[in-house]
Amino acid sequence: MNVTWTLGFPTGNEKGQYLTMDLGGTKLRVCWIKLNQRHGQTELDQDVYQFPSAVKTSDADTLWSFIADSLQDFVGKRSLQGTAENPLPLGFTFSYPASQDYIDHGVLQTWTKGLAIKGVEGEDAAGQLRDAMAKRNLPIRLVALINDTTGAMIASAYNDPDTIVGAIFGTGCNAAYMENVGSIRKMKIDLPPDTPMAINCEYGAFDNAHRVLPRTKYDVAIDEESPKPGEQSFEKLSAGLYLGEIFRQILLDLYERQVVLKGQDATSLKQPYALDTGFLSALENDPLPGVKAQFAELLKLKPTDEELWLCHRLAEIIAIRGARLCTCGISAICRMKGIKSGHVAADGSVANKHPTFKQRWAQAMGEVLDWPQDRKEDPITITSAEDGSGIGAAVIAAMTEERARQGNMVGIRQQK
Ligand code: BGC
Repeated sequence: MNVTWTLGFPTGNEKGQYLTMDLGGTKLRVCWIKLNQRHGQTELDQDVYQFPSAVKTSDADTLWSFIADSLQDFVGKRSLQGTAENPLPLGFTFSYPASQDYIDHGVLQTWTKGLAIKGVEGEDAAGQLRDAMAKRNLPIRLVALINDTTGAMIASAYNDPDTIVGAIFGTGCNAAYMENVGSIRKMKIDLPPDTPMAINCEYGAFDNAHRVLPRTKYDVAIDEESPKPGEQSFEKLSAGLYLGEIFRQILLDLYERQVVLKGQDATSLKQPYALDTGFLSALENDPLPGVKAQFAELLKLKPTDEELWLCHRLAEIIAIRGARLCTCGISAICRMKGIKSGHVAADGSVANKHPTFKQRWAQAMGEVLDWPQDRKEDPITITSAEDGSGIGAAVIAAMTEERARQGNMVGIRQQK
């Protein structure tokens, strides 16, 4: 439960031009965004920089050099003019758990989602980025470091004031919501108790001590074989990075026990992370000939129709468990805050691409929150989040600058 120093929802009056940058697992997206208030058209121009795969396991210097070079390329190509006195304001979406003493600061607690870059954990990622930009004399000022969930919540609330939560159901899983400062007991914050503050729940790390949720032997194996055993336990049961891998582990076990695919060469099936969530979606939803073709192409295997039905059911069970766990995270927030209605702005590959995720999620919400069976509509619904890592980062940067202009510097370190 990390404080974010994003104080409240946007008014909708935010405007101005911002540079944003989103550090994903395999790529960096840089945007130049013009906010024109809630009812105006937001303008966005972007470039995507693919990580050389070596960056994922490299060191801090390699990472920040790659990022600063990409920023330099982006602003250079567009002749964006920042000066030492008037640098370009930057919102940085850093979708990893970070402790923030200020909004423009963020100590990485641990890498998640398979990243293993040395020299960043325990360090201030914002400071490391600032140093790399300073080395290149880039006229850019980091205004806010944000989580993707906070970005999704704020970008969506910019247009839709009914937004209550921002959630990511993608490679990782997590959500953010708005808390009153007075209820944040773990730290003393010099603001009136009813001031709203976005909280990044980081609930992908829920139950790391394995005291609550039952795990199968396949879940245990995935955890033990991961770069970070014992971390992100909840995420490993429910997020997109792992759903295909759970399926692969089960199918391989059935193969090794000679229950399925007897006598076939399963070399490709033995490859960790050979299958993604897209494969599970296809298994559940595509007609048999299409699924057979995918098995042949990806795994060089020829399952019988009966074996395919087994795979279909397995894919279904894995996705149902994942969706229902995703419901638990959000319904817990709603219960704790007494939220009875509103929109959960969701983003991520599972939310957007798995065809039955949203429906399963909604059904489980009704069960957990005891909604009447004969309801005409669901009081809390999942909506497609606006672009949190782009527009969300820009709106938060605009909110932060406005706050600084008004002299409210609580949780802001570096403003000129
Ligand atoms: C990270 C979160 C992030 C989530 C969704 C998790 O692995 O710890 O910070 O919000 O993935 O991207």
